[in-house]
Amino acid sequence: MERKSIQLEELDINRRIITHIQAQGISDLFPPQESAFKTGVLEGKNLVLAIPTSSGKTLVAEICMLKAILDGRGKALFLVPLKSLAREKYTDFKKYESLGITTAMSVGDYDSPGRSLQDADIVIVTTERADSLIRHKTEWINNIGIVIADEIHLINDTKRGPTLEMVLAKLTQIVKDIQIVALSATISNANAISDWLRAELVKDTWRPVPLSEGVYLDGSISFYKDGRKKSQKIKRTRKDELADIVCDTLEENGQVLVFVSSRRSTVAVAKKLAPYLRRYISNNAMQQLSKGAIRIGKTPSAPEASKILARLLANGVAFHHAGLDNQERTLVEDYFKNNLLKVIVATPTLAAGVNLPSRRVIIRDYRRYEPERGSYSIPILEYKQMAGRAGRPKYDKYGEAVLVARTEPEHDFLIDNYTLSEPEEITSKLASPHAVRVHLLASIAAEMTKDRKEIDALIAGTFFSYQFDHWEISHHVSSALGFLEEGRLIETGANGVYTATPLGKRASQLYIDPYTAILFRDVLSGTENHSMMGVLHLLCHTPDQPLTYVTRSEVEEYEVLLDDYIEKLMIEPPIEESPHAYSDFLAQLKTAFLLHDWISEKTEKEITEKFNVGMGDVHRFVQSAEWLTYAAAEISRISNSTIHLPFLHNLRSRLRYGVRSDILELVSLKGVGRVRGRMLHNHNLVGLPDLYKVPIDELARIPTIGTSIAESIKKQLGFDIKLTNTETKDPVDDDDDIDLMQTLLEDFGT
Ligand SMILES: Nc1ncnc2c1ncn2[C@@H]1O[C@H](COP(=O)(O)OP(=O)(O)OP(=O)(O)O)[C@@H](O)[C@H]1O
Ligand SMILES: [Mg+2]
Repeated sequence: MERKSIQLEELDINRRIITHIQAQGISDLFPPQESAFKTGVLEGKNLVLAIPTSSGKTLVAEICMLKAILDGRGKALFLVPLKSLAREKYTDFKKYESLGITTAMSVGDYDSPGRSLQDADIVIVTTERADSLIRHKTEWINNIGIVIADEIHLINDTKRGPTLEMVLAKLTQIVKDIQIVALSATISNANAISDWLRAELVKDTWRPVPLSEGVYLDGSISFYKDGRKKSQKIKRTRKDELADIVCDTLEENGQVLVFVSSRRSTVAVAKKLAPYLRRYISNNAMQQLSKGAIRIGKTPSAPEASKILARLLANGVAFHHAGLDNQERTLVEDYFKNNLLKVIVATPTLAAGVNLPSRRVIIRDYRRYEPERGSYSIPILEYKQMAGRAGRPKYDKYGEAVLVARTEPEHDFLIDNYTLSEPEEITSKLASPHAVRVHLLASIAAEMTKDRKEIDALIAGTFFSYQFDHWEISHHVSSALGFLEEGRLIETGANGVYTATPLGKRASQLYIDPYTAILFRDVLSGTENHSMMGVLHLLCHTPDQPLTYVTRSEVEEYEVLLDDYIEKLMIEPPIEESPHAYSDFLAQLKTAFLLHDWISEKTEKEITEKFNVGMGDVHRFVQSAEWLTYAAAEISRISNSTIHLPFLHNLRSRLRYGVRSDILELVSLKGVGRVRGRMLHNHNLVGLPDLYKVPIDELARIPTIGTSIAESIKKQLGFDIKLTNTETKDPVDDDDDIDLMQTLLEDFGT
């Protein structure tokens, strides 16, 4: 029987929305979108939409959000796993402003300016941010009518999954009748998710742009589409096989995304491809690429990695991984979207949800190495996510995903295990001591759960409880409660009522691991002494601080350093012959040294090269350490060991700006960062009074300052200055990064 189709025109929503969507060039709904709207989702029913990559899940979510908002059911919360995804959605949803629907985003360092979250109709946040807002009992959470959980299959992720399911469980408990729309990749147990969320399920394999998946071997790709095999010859003319697979698509004016498993490979492969790409790039594109390259790599102090990226950009190829800083990452993505860049070589961080114009996606590595796990084949789900970046409706008429085999057996293995395989089932990862103690403290501190019964009720709302027997998590709950009580973060009163102690409350709001709070309290209240390295290492010893690795060839160097500094450290090295704890300890030490170099004004180039990291990493380490320093100060304050406070406050500022103490006053000025600050100081302008006195033209003549900065400085000091030069943008200083960090470090207060 023919299904009656629903079209955009017939949807029960405000006419202006329909017109608005049509104006974006969307005239017909995709079949799975139609199915979605037949479920009653517009009337407020929950929905799990498990349909292929690029099949338009976002549009369904958008229409549901707009409907809920216009019907007065409340505001919309859009949960995403990645900042880059938040940024894409934010730019996208801004188009509804002309309809009076406002959007704001809060993910840390990419916060949208201006509008407060409270006033916006649509709020886009990362899952962790949502968790933090709940902990702060943010008032407007109660006004949420609909929550969208994008990429909900990430419940399967050991690190992020527990927070995602807890956030959904908490939201359903806080907001009565909240509507949940969950967007998922095609997974084999999508019905489990929909059962859990009491949602309608739409599962489909339809894709708007046909995607052929195949495996390359020896000059030919065997593609499979709808179960049928088709071979395609690849002309072998270049020395590098991969270059042939890439150029095959460039010949036909397509763009290519190559996935490899490590950062180092992204650079190596991009370098290998670079010599072949020049002929596919127009002169006009070339000029624009060169401009971008200059922006990234021009200063002599630019890190070597940035210079390499700049050189590659000028050849039409780029690498992309988490070590890039925000400016670089945005530039690479935008140039690729505008078809200036032909090829990106990326780690799988680029695989989730983003829309890129890649006609062909090459998955060069299907094996990955992790120190704890060794080498393993990636899950099918992850392969499908990477493959799904090919053939996006906005950009291409078809897409191709290609795995690369070296031998016949490998070819067959890849066809059977990836190309023709269904993604595996997902399972909850909540049952870990870490996840349970973190979320229990949060819910007790926010007074969501006051006794064991209520805790059990909250846990009963998780995907874990849906999938497994209650007793499997019960002992984790008991031992977490024991841990929190012993650490004096919670107390048990009469009738088994739990309350968080002031320390517990603050720890939860600070979004630090309960273990970190206990560590800070015990270590800092146990001594009146502290050294810089001791404190930096203490920060790095917490589970909240991301760390760099110590490579095998560096072990000896850091063992020697450990001997040298052992007296200064506030934590003893592990005594047990536990190789894991020991190598972690060395990694903590190495990260502490990196932070030390940062606050000693070592240049970006020096730091990135010495520690073999990217500036993106440095910013991550620094932001986190700055936050932890603040947290340590707060914990000291609450536990009455105030002796450390002045030191910690000073350290926090130094981490924020990456400077020694003597220019902290200078860098408080907007437009003056660690580079210009030191330059002023070298010219005997050591504080604000000096800057007040110095003639403006003299100030402008100091290298790196110039007229516009000089004017801006004088203006900030209260001079009545008309800016002469408002058109040209300030020359790039690393101050831009500082601004980003400041937005991250907003404090919610108690
Ligand atoms: N009905 C439609 N007609 C034409 N284009 C559409 C329609 N619906 C969505 N699109 C476009 O399809 C593209 C992919 O949509 P979207 O990003 O929502 O994919 P997705 O389902 O979330 O995929 P992924 O799983 O990869 O995140 C977008 O560019 C979107 O504008
Ligand atoms: Mg998506």
